[in-house]
Amino acid sequence: MKIEGKEYRTIWYEENIVKIIDQTKLPHQFIIKELKTVKDAINAIKVMEVRGAPLIGGTAAYGLALAVQENNDPEFIKKSAKELIQSRPTAINLKWATDRMIKKLAGINSDQILSIALNEAKEICDEDEKFCENIGINGLKIIEEIYNKKKDTVNILTHCNAGWLATINWGTATSPIYHAHKKGIPVHVWVDETRPRNQGANLTSYELNEEEIPNTIIADNTGGILMQRGEVDMCIVGTDRTLSNGDVCNKIGTYLKALAAHDNNVPFYVALPSSTIDWEIKNAKDIPIEERNSEELSHVEGVDENNELKKVLIYPKKSKAINLAFDVTPAKYVTGLITERGISEASSDGLKELFKK
Ligand code: MRU
Repeated sequence: MKIEGKEYRTIWYEENIVKIIDQTKLPHQFIIKELKTVKDAINAIKVMEVRGAPLIGGTAAYGLALAVQENNDPEFIKKSAKELIQSRPTAINLKWATDRMIKKLAGINSDQILSIALNEAKEICDEDEKFCENIGINGLKIIEEIYNKKKDTVNILTHCNAGWLATINWGTATSPIYHAHKKGIPVHVWVDETRPRNQGANLTSYELNEEEIPNTIIADNTGGILMQRGEVDMCIVGTDRTLSNGDVCNKIGTYLKALAAHDNNVPFYVALPSSTIDWEIKNAKDIPIEERNSEELSHVEGVDENNELKKVLIYPKKSKAINLAFDVTPAKYVTGLITERGISEASSDGLKELFKK
């Protein structure tokens, strides 16, 4: 998608270097960062220069290719894979992409190992882009249906950033929105600010602005009253891990939006590529929920009058804070899962039907 009119993907490989858009600096500074080693890739995931489940999967894939580029000793590659998987705990895509790379490289000792690793990383990213495009084509039908009934702007609420910046391109939750906009359907997006890291305000609103899609940032607690007032036609969010029974783990606060949507008969959709489905864990309580530094709550970052980035403390110095980064929305509150293969009920039967193979 576009930034200042120029098409980008979120990650690419050029002249032996992996390049990313540093998302910790957006929307105030647009910086392309270079990852030269697997350690650089691990660090970029940890400090969230790249974030969003599909993008950290893509970064892990390229990270492993960088490991091969540095040292193709099997022990080094194995150790790097382990560290990549552990760089963030909740999104399943990290393990999915790393396991796929390891499987591809198993038993290859030849001079070709690097080109095989690079091709597989590119393949993982290309596939994610295609899957996200298909999510958009499938989700567009829901937006079209609402528009055909309403004959007026479709108001869509989203949480966190499940936009193209969280994937390789298109996004998951935003892909149906981009497709609707391209088709001329009037859409307006309510963007949850998404404390504490403000991925909604800093990233979703930014990328929608760049594509000229009308959007309004709201505080995380505002969705409820908007739904009561009939100002939300549907919600679409992304996910970091969806269980085979349809339970959805996503950015903290998603669950409360789903409850409000349920109480107000607002359809609540979750958009995801199949790489985000965890077919193994059966109980949502077993999903590892990331707990991040409480400084993300107690401090905020922004630019001052000189356009310089500043971080300031906003809490009493003595106060404690807890920063759980994800929650789980039970399947019963999810109207449907929008995937690359179609839309399914959030249930074992629904997912099995779509992903028989
Ligand atoms: O902590 P983040 O910014 O990596 O969390 C991202 C989300 O929760 C997204 O909604 C999710 O990964 C889906 S991305 C298409």
